[in-house]
Amino acid sequence: MGVDPREFRNTVGCFATGVTVITTTDSLGKPIGLTANSFTSLSLDPPMVLFCLDRKVASFDAFSEGGAFAVNILSELQKDISNRFATTGDDKWNDFDFVTWEGGSPIIPGSLANLECKAGNIFEGGDHIILTGEVMRISASEGSPLLYWKGGYAELNVD
Ligand SMILES: Cc1cc2nc3c(=O)[nH]c(=O)nc-3n(C[C@H](O)[C@H](O)[C@H](O)COP(=O)(O)O)c2cc1C
Repeated sequence: MGVDPREFRNTVGCFATGVTVITTTDSLGKPIGLTANSFTSLSLDPPMVLFCLDRKVASFDAFSEGGAFAVNILSELQKDISNRFATTGDDKWNDFDFVTWEGGSPIIPGSLANLECKAGNIFEGGDHIILTGEVMRISASEGSPLLYWKGGYAELNVD
């Protein structure tokens, strides 16, 4: 029996996630980034992470051909940044401050955490690809995460 696409979205949307902006640079050195909630940790030794990338996104070539990427885990104060990087177009970097570490991928200040990665293996995954990365440098700070659940943003409610 086939699975209805909308029902599938609603079903997987029951799984609450954090929200990240994953960044890299293109072959000309221009910053590239997109909002992603498919991020997860993969291996502890060596430290590795993965995320899934839609084959249709404008940043596909930069990520699939790039040697490095950075994961910026967003705080609940960064919903506007999530929205900015969930739209396509060059202007998402206009008037947007970032720093870089050794790997050169944009690191977004004010994130809950940042992980800089050396790009690893890529696996096929239907209309997405799975990109793995070895974590080379990390930073984490206090704060509450931005969450995504049932197709919308949510915040932690802890006493
Ligand atoms: C909360 C949220 C999570 C998302 N997660 C992913 C993801 O994991 N992988 C992906 O390819 N796109 C994901 N997207 C969609 C991309 O952010 C969106 O297609 C973006 O416009 C791509 O930018 P680009 O076309 O400039 O590359 C997500 C969007 C939102 C709002």
